[in-house]
Amino acid sequence: MKENAFIATTLFGLEEILVSELKELGATDLRVLNRAVSFNGSQAILYKVNLGARTAMRILKNLKSFRAADDNALYNAVYNMPWEDHFSVKDSFMVNSSVNSHIFKHSHFVSQKVKDAIADRFRKHTNLRPSVNTQNPDITINVHISIDRVDISLDSSGEPLFKRGYRAGQYLAPLNEVLAAGMILMTGWDGTVPLIDPMCGSGTIPIEAAMIAKKIPPGIFREKFGFMSWKDYDELLFIRVKDALLKPVELKTRIYASDISVEAIDLSSKNIKKALLEEDIELNKIDFANVLTSEERGVLIMNPPYGERLKEEEINLFYKGIGDTLKRNFAGFDAWVLSGNPQALKFFGLKPEKKIELINGSIKCKYQKFSIYKGSKKAVFKES
Ligand SMILES: C[S@@+](CC[C@H](N)C(=O)[O-])C[C@H]1O[C@@H](n2cnc3c(N)ncnc32)[C@H](O)[C@@H]1O
Repeated sequence: MKENAFIATTLFGLEEILVSELKELGATDLRVLNRAVSFNGSQAILYKVNLGARTAMRILKNLKSFRAADDNALYNAVYNMPWEDHFSVKDSFMVNSSVNSHIFKHSHFVSQKVKDAIADRFRKHTNLRPSVNTQNPDITINVHISIDRVDISLDSSGEPLFKRGYRAGQYLAPLNEVLAAGMILMTGWDGTVPLIDPMCGSGTIPIEAAMIAKKIPPGIFREKFGFMSWKDYDELLFIRVKDALLKPVELKTRIYASDISVEAIDLSSKNIKKALLEEDIELNKIDFANVLTSEERGVLIMNPPYGERLKEEEINLFYKGIGDTLKRNFAGFDAWVLSGNPQALKFFGLKPEKKIELINGSIKCKYQKFSIYKGSKKAVFKES
């Protein structure tokens, strides 16, 4: 079967997790790049990875890489590519560019040039121009320029893959689904011990966790992928790949989600329902300070507020309270906490066992692991 070169893009810090996922899905020749992983694979692998990779944002199919000394060289190289082999003049398209170059300074200008070259080629061959649609295009073309090296690719995902299709709405600052999945996979949680998110907001962590444990592919609710508009789209192959990937298993443990806010619980409930996971996630409106568990061990993952709108003493006190509850009520658990406020995290009064750097939206965060042990707190916990 013909192998193609692809690039899966991801979020900062998730590259290694993405490598493991892609390997498991059958991709080969994996190489870690900056917020991306390159790999080779067949068309079936392309479909599989789009449906099944939880930590990929987009899968790009490389069409051509070349060097361009100026705008004209870029225009000519793009004009000479056989675009009519990839899509029809009836399809709408858009061009996305990312540029890091002293030759090509403006990504908007690069997109314009590439768009003109493609439209001019279609006009020459068909007497028609394809229409440009920047909102909901059939075809998305990706241009990446580093100094004078140009990579042109087709975006096989279309809408980014974090758009799983289960969100009924948003509450405050929901985690990106790709980040939430990466955070869960990093803990090594294998679905055999309970998982708790006691500040669940819109429910992203518990929903992604249930999908991981039940082996539900993250792309299963999506109706559209970019590759479906390509000329080589093989619908039968896609259906075969999807059927083979969809082998859900029963949840072997419990997933608990709670939050202090009624609105958050309401929205989590809608999202959980849309993801068909009502049977798997136990949802409660409760202040974390009052959360008790009868479970002897498990994994707790939380993304508390970072306190942008609070005074420093208030947020430090709030974080101290979280640390106290962890020590009091969660002996036997591994607690993983994502926060954009590392200063406040020090008030937990717990010594982190691991510190991982992640970026949530545009906020640099620390994702820290605390093992909460049974027995004397004083012996184990470093008091602040
Ligand atoms: C950053 S948001 C979590 C977002 C969530 N991870 C998501 O993806 O939607 C923080 C959440 O903590 C909740 N929260 C704040 N104080 C709390 C407390 N004392 N007990 C429980 N939840 C609390 C807020 O209501 C909010 O939903």
